[in-house]
Amino acid sequence: MKVEIYHASKFGNGEKVVAYLQGLLVVKGHQADFRHVRDASPKEMPAADLYVFCAPTRMGKPIGKMRRFLKKAALPEGAKYALIATHGEATPNKKTGKMPTPEEIEKYQQNLPVMDALLKAKGAVKVAEVKVYVRGDTMKGPLAEGWEKIVEAFAAKLL
Ligand SMILES: Cc1cc2nc3c(=O)[nH]c(=O)nc-3n(C[C@H](O)[C@H](O)[C@H](O)COP(=O)(O)O)c2cc1C
Repeated sequence: MKVEIYHASKFGNGEKVVAYLQGLLVVKGHQADFRHVRDASPKEMPAADLYVFCAPTRMGKPIGKMRRFLKKAALPEGAKYALIATHGEATPNKKTGKMPTPEEIEKYQQNLPVMDALLKAKGAVKVAEVKVYVRGDTMKGPLAEGWEKIVEAFAAKLL
């Protein structure tokens, strides 16, 4: 299988995730490359059996660079894709000490559905999706404990 992985990591966590994923795919005998969207042209995407897109979250949505890339992405009809969203872990409100409600958390975690809608509109077909968390106290990382296992389970779904 040939897998093309695109990410829009700002602080390096998403890049770490896709580098780990690439390694998992390669040891299983697959061909996998990853690159930042700033180093890629959405109109000239190489042919692949699977495209993976990984984006950090900004105010609930995928970072602008990834949104713009996906809007322009020239994917063949029926192309397969998988999605990774990196999120800050929910933390207690600094004033009240209360954790956000599930509804509040959901509002700030719309990254996957937004990426999904952009790709579905192109006739592409989703294979898998996953959320990976960074520590919420910094929002910039490091990745929350146990992230490798989450990426391993995601990789297994792709194969
Ligand atoms: C300005 C700003 C806004 C953010 N907004 C959200 C958000 O709405 N939801 C969320 O889950 N994470 C949010 N985060 C945390 C990012 O998801 C986190 O920094 C990112 O996933 C780390 O990935 P990267 O190291 O690959 O850039 C925000 C971070 C910044 C700096």
